[in-house]
Amino acid sequence: IKRITTHILQEMKSRGEKISMLTAYDYSMAGIVDEAGVDIILVGDSASNVMAGHETTLPITLDQMIYHASAVVRAVKRAFVVVDIPFGSYQGNSSEALRSTIRIMKESGAHAVKVEGGSEIKESVIRILSAGVPVMGHLGLTPQSIYKFGTYTVRAKEEEEANKLLEDAKLLESCGCFAIVLEKIPAKLAKKVAETVTIPVIGIGAGGDVDGQVLVVHDMLGITQEFKPRFLRQYADLRTTMLGAVEHYIKDVKSRDFPNESESY
Ligand code: KIV
Ligand code: NA
Repeated sequence: IKRITTHILQEMKSRGEKISMLTAYDYSMAGIVDEAGVDIILVGDSASNVMAGHETTLPITLDQMIYHASAVVRAVKRAFVVVDIPFGSYQGNSSEALRSTIRIMKESGAHAVKVEGGSEIKESVIRILSAGVPVMGHLGLTPQSIYKFGTYTVRAKEEEEANKLLEDAKLLESCGCFAIVLEKIPAKLAKKVAETVTIPVIGIGAGGDVDGQVLVVHDMLGITQEFKPRFLRQYADLRTTMLGAVEHYIKDVKSRDFPNESESY
């Protein structure tokens, strides 16, 4: 199997082939997502919500992200593996950003890191890139800044914020980022960003006129329950399937149907 690289992702954008990206946080799920042929696997700090049950992405630690990332990397044969640097491990201090990145790369074996923000984190992005680690940007709704925004509503609807977002995208490109995630912004603005920068732009709630799409895998598989934003397309109802299977098992244990003779030694 030929491994996906930043070079291949750039070629996909150039020839107009859309890039597929999903999250994974553990070995079993990453194996499925990779075998299906997804191009990029994101070890997202959404693990804070999905895996640990926190309300936001802020509490997850660098050690916890490395634990998730190392499990994912052990399963992946083809996809390009990107790891979110968690809140508090890179903002405003480029030495800390580099130190966090080096730990992620050495201890997990991942291929790249993702950071939230534009001009505010320019020094950190440059420092990481100069160490030879590919960086993915993330603009628009950046969940690590949720307490600044106050809500999870669509970002950059006003001209001022839209202009800053476009400038930030150009800045991240000029710094040398290999791709940018745009989260929950108007489709028209996302299209403009994707046309303006030459690096791949991956959208989540950013419309169809970008270079690829990303979703949280537990959301698209219907494992998570309450999170149903308009941008989410649910491809399975695994929660119902899993509930049914577990209820069936309980019933079989109670009724002594399980184990039967062929399941015994
Ligand atoms: O953590 C995450 O899952 C993400 C994606 C939604 C882009 O950052
Ligand atoms: Na994230």
